[in-house]
Amino acid sequence: MVIRGGRPLRGAVAVSGSKNATLPILMAALLTSEPIVLHNVPRLRDVHTAIALLEGLGATARWIDDHSVELRVGEVRAHEASYDLVKTMRASFVVLGPMLARTGRARVSTPGGCAIGARPVNLHIAGIRALGARIQLRNGYVEARADRLSGARLWLDNPSVGATENIMMAAVLARGLTTIENAAREPEVQDLARLLTAMGARISGAGTHVIEIEGVERLHGATHQIIPDRIEAGSLMVAAAITGGEVTIENAPTAELDGVIAKLRESGAAVTVDDRGVCVSRSAPLRPIELRTLPYPGFPTDLQAQMMALLTQAEGTSVITETIFENRFMHAPELQRMGADIVMKGATAVVRGRSRLSGAPVMATDLRASMGLILAGLAADNETQVSRVYHLDRGYEALDQKLRALGAEIERIPE
Ligand code: UD1
Repeated sequence: MVIRGGRPLRGAVAVSGSKNATLPILMAALLTSEPIVLHNVPRLRDVHTAIALLEGLGATARWIDDHSVELRVGEVRAHEASYDLVKTMRASFVVLGPMLARTGRARVSTPGGCAIGARPVNLHIAGIRALGARIQLRNGYVEARADRLSGARLWLDNPSVGATENIMMAAVLARGLTTIENAAREPEVQDLARLLTAMGARISGAGTHVIEIEGVERLHGATHQIIPDRIEAGSLMVAAAITGGEVTIENAPTAELDGVIAKLRESGAAVTVDDRGVCVSRSAPLRPIELRTLPYPGFPTDLQAQMMALLTQAEGTSVITETIFENRFMHAPELQRMGADIVMKGATAVVRGRSRLSGAPVMATDLRASMGLILAGLAADNETQVSRVYHLDRGYEALDQKLRALGAEIERIPE
């Protein structure tokens, strides 16, 4: 992606459906033989990967329009998610719970580490084991079997999003009551619970730290509208602030963005919320802030790289602490190549501004890091080239087109 920076973004842009809500929701199609119809599905690489995984297991998928898909898993014909697949998209590990619940067996590759940290799946496995599954780890795969899972009371060491979703999907068809304590409260977990409820599941407490699931004998088909992507919305809000422009982000899920709105205001951006969504503008210089990533409703780790780019432009010293992933500052050395002044020590990054950023060739290391670099490029002098853009395509729908429509000079060239 080649960006010529320095142009304030102006105009209105619409947010796509949430990637992180869509991925587990697609997997939920395994829980019934009836059709699941999903609307507001973002056209992303990860979504196509998840659908290909389901097709490999016996699903038929039919696109009804650009953003609506009908999935039907009449019969589960395979029981394995391979290493090749899971290593490219960790979120496919959540196939374990629904596959096991539907068929009594599942073989899913463990994902291994990734660019942002170790990211183990121990909580997923412990939770599903607590529901009575016999689980073996063999040749890098989790092999799980159970005639029928039975409800249990379990407590998560930390409120893992993926583990909460995986266990929830295992528990909906289990015998009896499952209680997940210290569950993740993320809106994406809530969206999955809404779909499962529409399929006939009995779930209460999604969005709180204690989720209760009363298992049912069977689930049926349902139609569901995916929530808008709060991380895409937050990224576009930062784009408005970093370029000193004025952008209305239509259908931004503003209630889910309270922490982000608060931090943007603290840094000097003007943020107004109305029925249309959220409008972000900035005319004064940016101010330094302190920022700490936390599980929802705390500040999302998925917006940390974007905020780091923003804070290179604040007049003074900002402090960012990353508490979710242990290695999530891979974007910092790339920002330094563009002229940012960032010192990292453990989980903390000290960002001294304001730095005059100058365009450079930089490399994306993961999905959100690549967005941080694009944002820095929008604020930099001259030309920035961000390579390995496939990371971006995993999670942002038509980002270059959306930014161009707001006045950015951004172009995709073949690598
Ligand atoms: C999800 C999101 C990702 C986001 C993250 C945190 C999806 C597809 N991805 O990832 O974009 O950055 O939430 O908001 O929704 N952990 C364990 N053991 C486990 C599981 C997790 O120790 O079994 C740890 C992780 O290493 C990490 C923390 O828990 O340090 C949070 O991870 P988790 O909430 O599970 O993230 P994901 O579901 O992988």
